[in-house]
Amino acid sequence: METITLNNGVELPALGFGVFQTAADQTRAAVRTALECGYRLIDTAAAYGNERQVGEAVRDSQVERSEVFLETKIWISDYGYAETLAGFDKSARKLGVDQIDLLLLHQALPTAFDRTLEAYRALETLLADGQVRAIGVSNFMVEHLRGLLDRRAVVPAVNQIEVHPYFAQREVQDFAAAHGVRTQAWSPIGGITFYRDGRHGSTLADPVIGAIAQAHAKSPAQVMLRWGVQEGRSVIPKSTNPTRIAENIDVFDFELSAEEIAAIDGLDTGHRGGPEPDTITLKTFGRDIPDA
Ligand code: A2P
Repeated sequence: METITLNNGVELPALGFGVFQTAADQTRAAVRTALECGYRLIDTAAAYGNERQVGEAVRDSQVERSEVFLETKIWISDYGYAETLAGFDKSARKLGVDQIDLLLLHQALPTAFDRTLEAYRALETLLADGQVRAIGVSNFMVEHLRGLLDRRAVVPAVNQIEVHPYFAQREVQDFAAAHGVRTQAWSPIGGITFYRDGRHGSTLADPVIGAIAQAHAKSPAQVMLRWGVQEGRSVIPKSTNPTRIAENIDVFDFELSAEEIAAIDGLDTGHRGGPEPDTITLKTFGRDIPDA
């Protein structure tokens, strides 16, 4: 597995396994299959409700804990300094680990940004104490990144955002890159374009992606993942289907040309599939994250 060196020297697998919207009772089997297929990065979140099953699958596998990069996210309801420290404890207990490899703030709270900053300060403490190996953010737009960089000491290692051919958020990626923040793509094959009623069709049916896939005897999903990896992003496709789990990691035996990459870059519609980050408030999205 190729890795990406984060801004603090920690190695992040370029391609990982996502479990967003994977039901708790399906998570163990999906993660077990992923580990058997060679995935060594698992991305979950307190808000997904499946951290416990991720931890169980890793423990039950033949793979050493030290070989698996575990990543999770603190939900907005646990923002604040003490609250976020407690949020780490909840996640670590559910995962059954002492140390989390990468801990992210799941969203900015634009209308309560001080709370977001206090949550990040807790991540800095966890990093200094060795309880996490790297810290970062998710769904941060340029103004949120700027607000954080202006006020906190540790540059986030990662910003995990929606990136697929129909919504590439180039300005967020460029700003992050200029400050040493690595972009990690959620919905990297554009799942959000087909499991949500969006303003565009499914990336899987895109004729440009389809033609490139055909030229390499690969699937559209593989082409999109390869595009992400070649552009230097970490990608975390989600699947519960064993065939597709295996398909999605099989992207290291071919290379897209500069023209093919440019053609995929040209598909950006500028339309977001997921929630608008500026509309996230505790009132609309807050919910209790149960204890372990
Ligand atoms: P499933 O879990 O049934 O495989 P993304 O991570 O980009 O959001 O994509 C996730 C969505 O894409 C899920 O609906 C998943 O469904 C589906 N999916 C995952 N891998 C593939 C693939 N290789 N081909 C087609 N659909 C896929």
